[in-house]
Amino acid sequence: MERRSISISRMAVALLVVLAIGVTRADRVNKSASLGSFWSTAKEESDHLRWKPEVDDDLSDSVVQEEEEHHLDGGFSSLEGMLQWAVGHSDPEKLKEASLGIQRLSTEELKQRQMEIRELMEKLKTPSDAKLMKIAIDDLNNLSLPLEDRHRALQELLILAEPIDNANGMTKTWGLTAVIRELSNPIPEIRTISAWILGKASQNNPFVQKQILELGTLAKLIEMARSDFSEEATKALYAVSALIRNNIEGQELFYMEAGDTMLQSILSNSTIDIRLLRKSVFLLADLVECQLDGRSNTELPFFSNHSLLKSVVDLMTSEDLDIQEKALYAVKNLLLLRSIDAVVFKDVCELDVALGRMRQQLEQLICDDKFKEYALDMENLRREVELIFVGKLDKVRRTVDFL
Ligand SMILES: *[C@@H]1O[C@H](CO)[C@@H](O)[C@H](O)[C@H]1NC(C)=O
Ligand SMILES: *[C@@H]1O[C@H](CO)[C@@H](O)[C@H](O)[C@H]1NC(C)=O
Ligand SMILES: *[C@@H]1O[C@H](CO)[C@@H](O)[C@H](O)[C@H]1NC(C)=O
Ligand SMILES: *[C@@H]1O[C@H](CO)[C@@H](O)[C@H](O)[C@H]1NC(C)=O
Repeated sequence: MERRSISISRMAVALLVVLAIGVTRADRVNKSASLGSFWSTAKEESDHLRWKPEVDDDLSDSVVQEEEEHHLDGGFSSLEGMLQWAVGHSDPEKLKEASLGIQRLSTEELKQRQMEIRELMEKLKTPSDAKLMKIAIDDLNNLSLPLEDRHRALQELLILAEPIDNANGMTKTWGLTAVIRELSNPIPEIRTISAWILGKASQNNPFVQKQILELGTLAKLIEMARSDFSEEATKALYAVSALIRNNIEGQELFYMEAGDTMLQSILSNSTIDIRLLRKSVFLLADLVECQLDGRSNTELPFFSNHSLLKSVVDLMTSEDLDIQEKALYAVKNLLLLRSIDAVVFKDVCELDVALGRMRQQLEQLICDDKFKEYALDMENLRREVELIFVGKLDKVRRTVDFL
């Protein structure tokens, strides 16, 4: 251990020197020398050593937790950590000497030195995502660990679960089962983050969707979406949406587990958390769209329920522009269903009144430069909805006249 950290510290000093010289040499000697390519690698390395969940799999190999910056086997877990250490522990005189020495190196020697450094950096790389995931899952499964550690394991999984290969890997290492178990944890925060992980892992991933659905998780998540703790409800609804999006089996299960009733009770609750409301209107519009795509043969009676339709039309006059837009979009999809009665939209929901009010509001918004573009788009959608609505009403009237 002792020897390893000493040799690493020497290498660290050498690396620092090369990096420092790199700047001056690159200017003075020749930018196209291979130092340039080393430079870019070093930059990529140090960039991705800072944790960025959205980077691709290759780059997210090295995960660094701040508090673990030092001491992995007495070494350093990151290039930055190593450099900081080197700066703190090196004698400026010696550094200068060393740098003079390096400046006298031939290109060949310099290349050799670069190779060594590259090898060193490979060695110092933190474990792969798969390994980190296994550690987190083992921690999560280790019930003798304090809650704090298991919570941290969940936070790590939340980040690790996003790249699609990692999510797939989770199904192999039984990570899903461990996370699903935590949905029943008595502590709301633990349940919340677990739902969040499942949502991230299943987003746009039919394979993981299927695994999670088969583990019978949907009913639990639907129940959680009704939680009074709005953070929990929001993340649970997020997971429900991610699980059933573009997934017919998932949607069938959703209706079987009374997900529609849950959705309706959120949509009709005027005091509910706004994020929950947004997610719900969006999910509704999405579900109707699936019906329109004809992927399911019979139109569900749920979509013609008068109180559901009324709730959605009421949301068109919400204070929140985003909700207004999503509600308008949902209404458009609903109107396109064969089984929908336009008269109900008029007599029960007063859609004509809501559309009129929206037009007035948009006319004002269009005058505001900040909202102009948005308001124009919205007005187009609003007009489209109005046309469909009026067309459908006319059809009913003509039928009535004919009789
Ligand atoms: C730098 O490298 C390029 C391409 O290899 C070469 O054409 C140029 O002459 C070199 N410049 C100096 C100052 O060595
Ligand atoms: C669980 O954690 C405890 C405490 O850190 C550790 O001693 C034990 O080896 C761990 N068990 C497993 C199965 O990893
Ligand atoms: C509406 O939501 C609030 C906040 O979640 C909840 O406390 C209340 O019981 C809900 N009302 C109804 C009628 O479900
Ligand atoms: C519509 O939904 C409400 C609220 O969930 C329910 O009480 C009612 O029975 C439903 N109506 C029909 C016709 O299914």
